[in-house]
Amino acid sequence: MRPPPLPLWLPLLLHLGAAAPPAGPSQDQLPAPQNPEIWLYNAQQVLRWGPVSLSNETRPVAYQVQFTFPASSTWMDVNGRNSPIMVNCWGILATECDFTPAGLSLDFLGFPMHFNVSLRVRAELETRTSAWVAAPWFQHYRNVTIGPPENIVVTPGKGSLFITLSPPFNISAPSPVTFSYYVHYWENPGNPQVKGPIHSNLIVLKDLKPLTVYCLQVRAELFWKLQNIARPGHLSNETCHKTEADASTRFQQGILIAVATFLSLAGVAGSCLFVILKYRGLIKHWFHTPPGIPVQIEEYLKDPAQPILEALDDSSPKEDPWDSVSVILCPEKE
Ligand SMILES: *[C@@H]1O[C@H](CO)[C@@H](O)[C@H](O)[C@H]1NC(C)=O
Ligand SMILES: *[C@@H]1O[C@H](CO)[C@@H](O)[C@H](O)[C@H]1NC(C)=O
Ligand SMILES: *[C@@H]1O[C@H](CO)[C@@H](O)[C@H](O)[C@H]1NC(C)=O
Ligand SMILES: *[C@@H]1O[C@H](CO)[C@@H](O)[C@H](O)[C@H]1NC(C)=O
Ligand SMILES: *[C@@H]1O[C@H](CO)[C@@H](O)[C@H](O)[C@H]1NC(C)=O
Repeated sequence: MRPPPLPLWLPLLLHLGAAAPPAGPSQDQLPAPQNPEIWLYNAQQVLRWGPVSLSNETRPVAYQVQFTFPASSTWMDVNGRNSPIMVNCWGILATECDFTPAGLSLDFLGFPMHFNVSLRVRAELETRTSAWVAAPWFQHYRNVTIGPPENIVVTPGKGSLFITLSPPFNISAPSPVTFSYYVHYWENPGNPQVKGPIHSNLIVLKDLKPLTVYCLQVRAELFWKLQNIARPGHLSNETCHKTEADASTRFQQGILIAVATFLSLAGVAGSCLFVILKYRGLIKHWFHTPPGIPVQIEEYLKDPAQPILEALDDSSPKEDPWDSVSVILCPEKE
């Protein structure tokens, strides 16, 4: 389907729109503040803008802030008297206006977080003012950046980890939004797994390997059901924890150690026996070769008159001490 053609009067409207604001700062007009932006992080609501500086001016430039909601047809001054914004940003020298609700104080609530808020700011010097500059509209729950959960406490259990946490920021009791949580965890080293969403402040990672180090990070997600908006939050810092041994592991460990000890002893004994039985002749041959050959050869070389060849003679019938050694090691032999 082709898009509908643009109405013929649109260029005219755009032209009028562009011509509407005064063309550039006149002698009586101050330059406007630059790029006003709302900073929304957890419960923080701060409007910031670039300062206006006048080269030949020693007196300070002040700023004025106004707000409006779509439902209200007028702009209202942020002058500390307009509820619900009991903040004063009228004639201030700072280049920001902080609307963040302060604790539980009821006369300092900030903008309701589901409201659609528009803000604008202008510069002021004595009787002169700049044009208004509008910041993009915002709804706190729609535009907020969510930090990691707070007060994360991890308690190792038997083959498990218990995690308690608090939300990144407090939301008032009947609220249109909810927080859920995701745990990213992995055996160290290992591939990460994700558990969530969990709608509780207590999270249990079960069926973990006992006595194993796991690392984890947690993040919150804000969900605004009515608007179907999900705001994923930042991951918390990585922490690592060792799970405890569970009862069956302790039992298994005991058994394992016993079995391993037994097996290794039996293995040593068995292989000893096996080697002796299988390579009896060879061993005899090796061991029969006197260990001090080099020395003896050395001596022989020094004094070839010595009867070394006799000593090396395998078939010497006089005595065969290695047979008796074999008998001691393996009494059941032959
Ligand atoms: C600053 O300079 C501008 C022109 O450069 C002039 O129009 C303005 O009046 C001056 N302001 C003051 C306070 O002298
Ligand atoms: C919020 O208000 C602005 C300006 O009135 C409007 O353009 C925008 O569509 C509104 N947003 C919502 C989600 O209603
Ligand atoms: C808030 O989000 C809407 C889109 O969801 C966007 O149009 C608007 O510009 C955002 N406001 C700010 C201040 O980022
Ligand atoms: C949330 O509220 C509780 C008291 O209700 C307070 O102790 C806590 O500090 C608040 N948390 C934040 C992030 O403001
Ligand atoms: C997370 O780590 C960064 C840098 O390692 C540190 O600055 C920050 O304070 C940590 N945050 C918390 C909540 O511990």
